[in-house]
Amino acid sequence: MTGWRDERNGFSRRLSWVRRDDQAAALYDTLRGRLIYAPSQVANMGYWEGLDVRRFQSLETASDALFRRVLGMRHDATIAESTSRSVVLDVGCGYGGLLEILGDEMLNVGVNVSFGQLARRRPGVRVAGASASSLPLRRASVSGVVSVEAAHHFHTRRDFYAEARRVLEPSGWMSGSELVVPPARGVLQKMTLPFHRRGMQFPQGNVGSVETLRGGLEDVGFEITHWEEATGRVIAPFKRWLIRHLPRVLLKADPQYVVLNAGFLFYPWKYVLYSAQAQ
Ligand SMILES: C[S@@+](CC[C@H](N)C(=O)[O-])C[C@H]1O[C@@H](n2cnc3c(N)ncnc32)[C@H](O)[C@@H]1O
Repeated sequence: MTGWRDERNGFSRRLSWVRRDDQAAALYDTLRGRLIYAPSQVANMGYWEGLDVRRFQSLETASDALFRRVLGMRHDATIAESTSRSVVLDVGCGYGGLLEILGDEMLNVGVNVSFGQLARRRPGVRVAGASASSLPLRRASVSGVVSVEAAHHFHTRRDFYAEARRVLEPSGWMSGSELVVPPARGVLQKMTLPFHRRGMQFPQGNVGSVETLRGGLEDVGFEITHWEEATGRVIAPFKRWLIRHLPRVLLKADPQYVVLNAGFLFYPWKYVLYSAQAQ
């Protein structure tokens, strides 16, 4: 675990082709505020309904809207049964923005491999340094799991779903948003995908269609209660925001991150929002 904290090595580990949890951690540790999404503590692409991409600060509002959208999808019946002692886990919690919104509604805890982000977390949020594919919790010990735009990094997405199912109480809820990486088609996509895998740190095992992702949740014992393909409300406007503010973003962004992900605008990513209930 200590290696994760060694930011001096982060740069070279980020260059490595071997992908492990500590490299995703290194990516977020060393990017610090120099993440391509420049404003403050934003670490997702946001949900852009009714927001103006011409305003630089709209990304922060969109990020907040994404948290609220994901939380709003939770299964009503299970929420009604929640008490202030119910535990909710935010896996891949970034700076803890979603936990801040949840407040003290339940016993909320964020899980993240990036100690750099945890050290700069929002005030008052509870966090733990741990990996999504090996959650340090007992079987059936939490009532809800949430994960926003993080599972593409996990080793693997499916292992995380199995872990989430394991730690959830019977009928517990899970709700999240996911960046989907469809298999590369054509020469250009096949050439750029390895750069994205390295620059954005996701394993080959997480490359797959929207249907594969849904099947992965169902296979480990979740029933999908809400499913929304949100590419047009997340990725498309985020790209427009990026293009619109490119000079300002480039001034602050990490140059290596920019070079490795220059093809981001052209890869056919998809984005889904879902909620599910443990069976
Ligand atoms: C795109 S950011 C999203 C952060 C946050 N959910 C948000 O929306 O602001 C992805 C997050 O996943 C975390 N992460 C990556 N791999 C992880 C792993 N194996 N286990 C737990 N967290 C991980 C990163 O450190 C980062 O905080």
